Amino acid sequence: MIIKKLNLQNFRNYERETFEFGEGINVLVGKNAQGKTNCAEAIFYLCTGASLRIRHDRQLIRRGADCALLSAETECRYGKITLGAEIRENKRELTLNGVKVARAVDFLGNMKSVFFSPGELRIVQDGPDERRRFLNLSISQTSKSYASALLRYNKILDQRNNLLKERDVSLIFDTLPVWDEQLARYAAVLIRSRREYLGRLAPYAADAHAFLTDGGEKLELGAEGNYPGDEEEIAEKLLKELKNAYERDVRLGFTTVGPHRDDIRILIDGNDARGFASQGQTRTAALSMKLAELEIFKQLSGEAPVLILDDVMSELDLTRRKKLLARTGGVQCILTCTHAERVLYGKECNKIRISGGKIVR
Ligand SMILES: Nc1ncnc2c1ncn2[C@@H]1O[C@H](COP(=O)(O)OP(=O)(O)OP(=O)(O)O)[C@@H](O)[C@H]1O
Ligand SMILES: [Mg+2]
Repeated sequence: MIIKKLNLQNFRNYERETFEFGEGINVLVGKNAQGKTNCAEAIFYLCTGASLRIRHDRQLIRRGADCALLSAETECRYGKITLGAEIRENKRELTLNGVKVARAVDFLGNMKSVFFSPGELRIVQDGPDERRRFLNLSISQTSKSYASALLRYNKILDQRNNLLKERDVSLIFDTLPVWDEQLARYAAVLIRSRREYLGRLAPYAADAHAFLTDGGEKLELGAEGNYPGDEEEIAEKLLKELKNAYERDVRLGFTTVGPHRDDIRILIDGNDARGFASQGQTRTAALSMKLAELEIFKQLSGEAPVLILDDVMSELDLTRRKKLLARTGGVQCILTCTHAERVLYGKECNKIRISGGKIVR
């Protein structure tokens, strides 16, 4: 699948601009703070309905304007799709082929993308929430049922946590079982899906890692929680765990068990990557996970997603840069950098020069 055209109006530092992308490698070149990442972010937003960098959409609106407009013409194996977003201070409207989309879940994943930037190293380095975020975004792009279950789960979890903060303890104990039934049901969908997804991801990530390190290191990924069996069995086990944690949950005022606390295990040569891996190892492990994501998207949707590489090349050594480029065959790639010559080695590409929120023509 490819993105052919991107229109931005009052998005970040763009007043009005149209990008035309080619099938292979597209390079956004420019000095710092000119709008390269902003353009990459716009593409990712149209793929997922979410931003990578911020919580509040209003930051996406150009300072001084009151509405940002984004749209993309894309082509996938089923034909052309036009994606649109209109972002205002307190609301947004998403459109698919010009028709308003009622639920964000139906917008997500129509165009799929894999995004990699130095910030993604957090997946390996930081706490479990970064890894859950990776899983949630990644699985949601390929499974609407996962995306809906996640939404429901989070809503019920919020309500349960609010209940836990009540003063009336007997009310809490009376009401908890009502929430727990539903919570466990959606939790089971999340846990099973993540387990399956990680099962698929792990061999591809190991393979990419071996390729990037010339077989020098071994990468292993796995789910940390232990929930065997089908969804019914998972729900049953979780329900028991929730009950056992009642007193602790009431004391702490939040839900202490469930998939919102799960983690992914990342091992390099048998050692926990978190807190142990060097910068270079972290980068290679994170990149391997992203390349694995690319393979899975390819497999599940029958075509390659758009690969967005923001500021990644300058951070990799020569060998890894070349190896990464070798893996982008047949994949549309949007790559940002400050010096195209230094990262591409004469590889054919569509170069777009950006300065001050405008394409230099
Ligand atoms: N809502 C907004 N309105 C106006 N300008 C904005 C808005 N959000 C961000 N900017 C500006 O956009 C500029 C470009 O940001 P961007 O992150 O795209 O730069 P970049 O080209 O990727 O630079 P670098 O090479 O340093 O990563 C920044 O100077 C930032 O202040
Ligand atoms: Mg940038």
